[in-house]
Amino acid sequence: MSAAATFEFTRRLQLVSDRDVERLDDNFLAPARAFDAADLGTHLLFPREMSWYYGEPIWHELSPAKQQMLNHLSFCQSYFSTAVAEAATNTLNFQAALQTFIREDAEVALYMAREVVEETTHIQSFLIVINKVLTHHGLTLDDLRRANVSLSLSERYVQAHSLVGWLRGNLDFYYFTRFPLNVNQKTVERCAIDEPDMHPGVRAILKNHAIDEARHMQMSRATGKVALSRMGTAMRWLACIGFAHFAARLYIGRHKKDGTLQRGTRVGTLVLCGVPKERANQAYEAWRDRVNQPEDPPLVRAGRHYYLRQMSEYVDQLEVPLRLRSYMKRVISDGYADVAAKAPDAREPALEFGDLTR
Ligand SMILES: [Fe+2]
Ligand SMILES: [Fe+2]
Repeated sequence: MSAAATFEFTRRLQLVSDRDVERLDDNFLAPARAFDAADLGTHLLFPREMSWYYGEPIWHELSPAKQQMLNHLSFCQSYFSTAVAEAATNTLNFQAALQTFIREDAEVALYMAREVVEETTHIQSFLIVINKVLTHHGLTLDDLRRANVSLSLSERYVQAHSLVGWLRGNLDFYYFTRFPLNVNQKTVERCAIDEPDMHPGVRAILKNHAIDEARHMQMSRATGKVALSRMGTAMRWLACIGFAHFAARLYIGRHKKDGTLQRGTRVGTLVLCGVPKERANQAYEAWRDRVNQPEDPPLVRAGRHYYLRQMSEYVDQLEVPLRLRSYMKRVISDGYADVAAKAPDAREPALEFGDLTR
């Protein structure tokens, strides 16, 4: 199977990107520069029900102004993590481009490199907005970074995939695992765009981002399938097992596999809102252990259902033995036990995201 034939889909992605790339400034940097945190008023920057600790006793202990601050900081943490994750993917995107320039189709390599250009503008626009929001709340980027101890996960992601990519001579594994990352990010972003009280300027940036990322997701989804088809049987099993465990560890809201770094970030962010460390720790534990709200807020539950459904549909499309597919679904569902057992119910908004257009 020749790479040129199998990666044919990148031609179409490149055509769309050729059109979009000329407008990166208009779609991202101009609205980010125009954003004025003084206009925030009562606007939100993150889906209300996805605000960290929404509906928990600690949420109700905060004044309305602090609740809004926590919503804004949920955005800052989430999008600074996205910016760092995009910097991480850029490292791998360009490594993939380099290998592809040398050994495979130069046009495919150009498209891989193009995504680096797009991500760099996304990162820049997020940083502009985040810095303005932080200043508005009397905080700095250093405060945010100190609280966000989970950022180092992105470094580890790059190190692991660089090593595997070096050993195998291609970044196929990377594109395969990039798909769950894309779906996870998309779910939260589309809920933010649909949030009625969202700040309109930030909504516009997120909408433009979701459009670019829908294309990046097509790249991940299709490249993952091509990658699998090029692997031998043993490698394919290994890749699928790795995919399932990775996908099971990505989540929206709280999760059975909530780790130390996630805990540190959630606690540190509450402290930034003025909550004493000890109270923040208690609040985190009560939230994680589902003490006060055994069920997540409806939008979080819907987001978790959506992610699980997308993973299951993707696994069904992979050309691997049925036994392996069942194993993958079981691993991912295990992480999502709270929603895997139950079908979405009437209290939950149905998340069906149509295509966005500019
Ligand atoms: Fe991006
Ligand atoms: Fe992307």
